[in-house]
Formats: sequence, C-alpha cells, structure tokens
Amino acid sequence: MKVARLVDTDIQAVIQLWLRCGLVRPWNDPEADIRLARAGTNADVLVGRKGKAIVASVLVGHDGHRGWVYYVSVDPDQQRQDFGRGIMSAAEDWLRERGIEKMQLMVRSDNTKVRAFYESLGYGEQKRVIYAKWLDGRPLTP
Ligand SMILES: CC(C)(COP(=O)(O)OP(=O)(O)OC[C@H]1O[C@@H](n2cnc3c(N)ncnc32)[C@H](O)[C@@H]1OP(=O)(O)O)[C@@H](O)C(=O)NCCC(=O)NCCS
Repeated sequence: MKVARLVDTDIQAVIQLWLRCGLVRPWNDPEADIRLARAGTNADVLVGRKGKAIVASVLVGHDGHRGWVYYVSVDPDQQRQDFGRGIMSAAEDWLRERGIEKMQLMVRSDNTKVRAFYESLGYGEQKRVIYAKWLDGRPLTP
C-alpha cells in the first residue's frame, strides 16, 4: 500500500469508503469535514492505495499540542492485511514531522474489535472522561 495526501479526485471515493466502514454519523457531513481538514496546515486526509484503488484512509490533525485521528478506515473487503497498521503509521509520521509527540483517539467503549486493533499498534487506554458540547447550542449527540 502506498500512502499519499488526498487529492480532489479522491474525495468521492473516500466518502464511499467511510460510508462502507460505517463511520459517517447523521450529524457529520464528510465532505465538509474533508474541506475543513484541508483548509489549514494542522490537518489533512491521507489515502492508502493498492494499485489505483483506495483501500484505506485517515483524517489526521493536531490542535497545537496533541495529535488526533478520525475516519480510520480500511475497505471491508481488504481488512486484516496490515493496511490499517500502515495508514496509522503514516498518520503517526505526519504528526512526528510537525513536532507532535502524542497521538490520541476516541473509540466507543463497546467496540472491542477496534480496541484490539489499536492495542495491537501499541495504544493504551487512558482513564479520562470526555466532555463535549455543540457550539451552535444543539443538544448533545450520542
Ligand atoms: C479498524 C480497521 C481500520 C483495522 O484495519 P485492518 O487493515 O483490518 O487492520 P490490520 O490488518 O492492520 O490489523 C492489525 C492488527 O490489529 C488487530 N485487529 C485488526 N482487526 C481486528 C479485529 N477485527 N479483531 C481483533 N483484532 C483486530 C490484529 O492484531 C491485527 O493483526 P493480525 O491481523 O496480524 O492479527 C478496520 O477494521 C476498519 O476500517 N474498521 C471499520 C472502521 C472503524 O471502525 N474504524 C475505527 C474508528 S475508531
């Protein structure tokens, strides 16, 4: 798998990948998320290709202190071939190149398969409580 920055012509394929992976929530607009990630210098979307096909992707960024990943995805027909490991490694490199020393990510607590994936990559659970608030005043989503 070769990893590169997403280009405009990848956008629809990447959104389809995220949909196929069940990562798009009703309150998120993936196209807007991609646009915002690419608008500045603190985030980007990376895509992994096998031949011409996009098999993996990740939205990676930092907040000036810690790095975060979202939309970590591998084509359901191409999983368990280390593409997940590869796209996460590329996201870690992206952060290292920008001086970010620690990656954080959120997983729903009952998602045991994804927890096993991150644990196999050396991530450990941190005992924290996540607070969130929509800044337009709408009620909190689950
Ligand atoms: C999570 C995901 C990205 C993993 O991608 P992948 O390419 O299948 O993972 P890899 O092949 O790199 O797996 C690396 C290791 O992680 C662990 N792992 C991966 N998937 C696993 C699973 N379903 N159950 C248990 N362990 C798993 C294994 O230890 C694996 O090594 P092994 O195959 O040698 O046993 C992929 O399953 C996916 O896209 N899921 C749907 C989207 C999603 O939930 N994303 C995370 C959002 S927080």
